[in-house]
Amino acid sequence: MIVKEAEFIISSTDVAKCPKTVLPEYAFIGRSNVGKSSMINMITGNGSLAKVSGKPGKTRLINHFLINKEWYLVDLPGYGYAHASKTDRDKWEKFIRKYLSSRKNLYCIFLLIDSRVEPQKNDLSFMEWLGEYQIPFVLVFTKTDKLNKVEFESFRSNYSEKLLESWEELPTMFVTSSQTGLGKEEILDFIEHVNKT
Ligand code: GTP
Ligand code: MG
Repeated sequence: MIVKEAEFIISSTDVAKCPKTVLPEYAFIGRSNVGKSSMINMITGNGSLAKVSGKPGKTRLINHFLINKEWYLVDLPGYGYAHASKTDRDKWEKFIRKYLSSRKNLYCIFLLIDSRVEPQKNDLSFMEWLGEYQIPFVLVFTKTDKLNKVEFESFRSNYSEKLLESWEELPTMFVTSSQTGLGKEEILDFIEHVNKT
């Protein structure tokens, strides 16, 4: 798929304020600073669509982008920010879980994982929660430009092993870098395929 048009629609503070639509929607989610906003910019070919920051916790709202007038990309605030208070974390959980469990047009979640970080408890328990709610998800390994081939393969096999402790099958996984554009076509082709089903 080629992205001809990527348009920012709205930042919502509340699930009730998200666009009312039946178009397919895909949400990018993951720990704070994992590269969600960068990935959205890479995929849409627009370097400044989603706000990127060196400071974790940049994205605070549910941001909707309309692609080719056919489907929505959603940038969500990150979780697991080390300096967030428990109240903030609880608020995030409530907000995001409400969005994820009530959004009927949500086709698939892209769960982003930093390729330099060993499997994290909050990512693994989030996947289990998605499983319980039968919300489809795929994994996106980010920032792979920071690793060489051997390092990445060791990361991937270690991550897969950890997943197989609680899952019978591995989810679809994308290997990406927002810096080099790696994985862009694969992700867009995947979305195009799911849109058609
Ligand atoms: P929050 O909105 O705070 O949750 O963060 P986010 O997940 O949206 O991350 P963001 O895209 O803002 O990126 C965080 C930092 O990682 C920025 O400094 C980016 O430049 C950097 N970054 C993101 N993707 C990549 C990548 O593929 N390669 C490299 N080298 N750096 C990246
Ligand atoms: Mg962000």
